[in-house]
Amino acid sequence: MSKKIKKRKEIAKILQEPKGMHDVLPVDEMYWSRIREVVSEISEGYGFHRIETPLLEFEELFQKTVGESSDIVAKEMYTLKTRGGDMLALRPEFTASTMRAYLGHSLGRLGQPQRLYTFGPVFRHDNPQAGRYRQFTQANFEIIGGQNDPVYDAHIILLSMRFLDILRIKGVSLRINSIGCRVCQPAYRRQLQNYYKSHEKELCADCVRRAKTNLLRLLDCKEQGCVKLREHAPNILDKLCVTCSAHFKSVIEYLDELKISYVLDNTLVRGLDYYSRTVFECVIEAEGREFGALAGGGRYDYLAEFLGGHATPGVGVAVGIERVIGVIKAQGIVFSSKQKKMVFVVHAGEMAKKKAFRFVEEFRRAGIYVKESLAKDSLKAQLKFADKEKARIALIFGQREIYEGTVIVRDLENSLQETVPLDRIVEEIKKRLK
Ligand code: HAM
Repeated sequence: MSKKIKKRKEIAKILQEPKGMHDVLPVDEMYWSRIREVVSEISEGYGFHRIETPLLEFEELFQKTVGESSDIVAKEMYTLKTRGGDMLALRPEFTASTMRAYLGHSLGRLGQPQRLYTFGPVFRHDNPQAGRYRQFTQANFEIIGGQNDPVYDAHIILLSMRFLDILRIKGVSLRINSIGCRVCQPAYRRQLQNYYKSHEKELCADCVRRAKTNLLRLLDCKEQGCVKLREHAPNILDKLCVTCSAHFKSVIEYLDELKISYVLDNTLVRGLDYYSRTVFECVIEAEGREFGALAGGGRYDYLAEFLGGHATPGVGVAVGIERVIGVIKAQGIVFSSKQKKMVFVVHAGEMAKKKAFRFVEEFRRAGIYVKESLAKDSLKAQLKFADKEKARIALIFGQREIYEGTVIVRDLENSLQETVPLDRIVEEIKKRLK
């Protein structure tokens, strides 16, 4: 390979984003700003407070909570050893960090339950494909502490569906299941193990491994043979203890009350070890493309104990923002941004440019939405730009006007213009933009 080609290849590599990670470009700002608005609308409406946790946590936090046998911990964490010898991991999700912060800062003392939300990037060294990235963004809502009342499960499910509804996403289906508790799940696992033992030869290689490490995950394998096998596997919903059964029934009754439709999916187990009882996912049905779940969550009443805390109920959800944006685009949903009334400052000549530069800042400080293209010298080019930006008013700082202490105010809607003294211009513009 010639030196030139090698150099070109090196540069091309530097300009690439790391695999599975993406720049967010201004062209997508419409989606991101609408999402941020919805996150604050939902958090305010449903009474959640924002919490921010570090990007890096002790690796052990996730080993103890998400679980050693989960794909996330077993295969997907970005870990690093610090100079001091600590093993840290880039957070692969928010629930464990939120619970760590809740316990570490005794947030329960502020009242129970605490409703906490986070918004930001998480990292999983997954195999990148459509809707599956290595860095992605979650909006995460948790209700921690208090009672393990089913009303909180319903509350979380409601806000998840509402989140997607406000964004006008169509065809969202809610899949829900209960995976029981410490009382009923062990017996169910034994039955499941017996069932799969007698069918081991029909399992895919991954499931043969999972049968030893993460038995419940056999139920949501997508391999054809495993899908067929699970049709006759024992059904968790038939094996719930009386308390779990009543809890699940109550969650369902709340959903009925809210007229939220759902699909009971006894194969839904979720990939994180901390769940007990309710688990759910919001998925898109009837889309040509496979998007995966847009949101997923559930109850995690033992998570605090995994971290050495007292028994503390919890339930929550994470919405995958990049997937949501993918669906918004695929469904052709557009968000109209309210056009703010704006003035555009135009100059003619070097002296006028300096004056214009000063006044642009005065307008900003007076709360006037202002734009300029001071680096362009041609008046025509500047006015063309003002038109493109859909400015209401152009302020023309000309050489003569500067000597006279005035500025030309041109209404770009009707092309009428008048000359206004500079010392009155800020007030005049405020009046006109009202
Ligand atoms: P999760 O199902 O792992 O749950 O992730 C939640 C959502 O994040 C998914 O439904 C999906 O939209 C998005 N997501 C997951 N993996 C990827 C990926 N590789 N690329 C793009 N988007 C992805 C959790 O993280 C739990 N902590 C949710 C929770 C909160 N449970 C209780 N509270």
